[in-house]
Amino acid sequence: MDDKKRVLSGIQPTGIFTIGNYFGAIKNWVSMQEKYSCNYMIADMHSITVKQDPNILKKNVLSSLALSLACGIDINKSNIFIQSHISEHAELCWVLSSFSQFGELSRMTQFKDKSENNKENINAALFTYPVLQTADILLYNADLVPVGADQKQHIELSRNIAIRFNGIYGDVFTIPEPFMNIGQAKIMSLSDPSKKMSKSDKNQNGFIGILEEKDSIIKKVKKSVTDSEGIVYFGAEKDGINNLIDIYSCIIGKTREDIKQEFEGKGYGDFKLKVGEVLADYLEPIRIKYNILIADIGYLEECYKKGGLNARDIASKTLKKVYDKIGFIDK
Ligand code: TRP
Repeated sequence: MDDKKRVLSGIQPTGIFTIGNYFGAIKNWVSMQEKYSCNYMIADMHSITVKQDPNILKKNVLSSLALSLACGIDINKSNIFIQSHISEHAELCWVLSSFSQFGELSRMTQFKDKSENNKENINAALFTYPVLQTADILLYNADLVPVGADQKQHIELSRNIAIRFNGIYGDVFTIPEPFMNIGQAKIMSLSDPSKKMSKSDKNQNGFIGILEEKDSIIKKVKKSVTDSEGIVYFGAEKDGINNLIDIYSCIIGKTREDIKQEFEGKGYGDFKLKVGEVLADYLEPIRIKYNILIADIGYLEECYKKGGLNARDIASKTLKKVYDKIGFIDK
């Protein structure tokens, strides 16, 4: 039995990821594989809380898997699987629903935002979504949950539910902690750098997809909104330049101070071109790998089946323990 800490995280299969998803989440997933025992999940059950076209959902699950592998998730180090393949997620979610309070779920800011933007379909699952997320995490006894800042409140809720349950039934669940890398970049929109980069941005110039071609990347960085000072450094009221500095720093590993020095005496034109070029070069091998993977459905199937088998092994043990504790009779 290994004593590595356990990790669980999930990503929703909603189309192609942006460099914001990559630098904010996937890159962390990849680096955590070396040190931890990792379980990564394509959260298809979460994604149906908003309307989905069945054919597009199928395509998106496979492309999210291919993208995760292209970015460096290694099936020999981590379990990567499709959430709906492990029925324990839905089963534990039901149990935990009885230990989740209406009031606490009502306070989730993501629920408030999503129901505000989705007035014609405020369904029950949109409301209980964080309970399913809690089941995802607790099934795998996860110590650490790598997430972006927007998910912190959900992880806090998961901790509370786990503590509450353990308080009644003893030490059943590991209490999870959110994991955010120090200096983990929050990549902002290129067209409005006060907002987070989002693939649902109506302005195509606001985001860069991981699979974009060099010309398009360079064009978008060039067009990105900046201030008019013309000096490259990380500072107040320089959201656009700060964002480009962070992107550049994520890729080449230099500090903000080093980057300031590198571009001393140079203008935004030079800086933007350099950022665009290193970004395009960085993403090119991912795109090449993705194109090979997405054409090989047989291999993708092998990957999710392997991950699913290992995941079910862990999840079924936890669920059995829970059923036993709450007094369900053995089959
Ligand atoms: N809710 C997460 C998001 O929208 C995705 C997710 C589902 C997740 N289950 C999870 C993240 C469990 C961490 C742990 O980004």
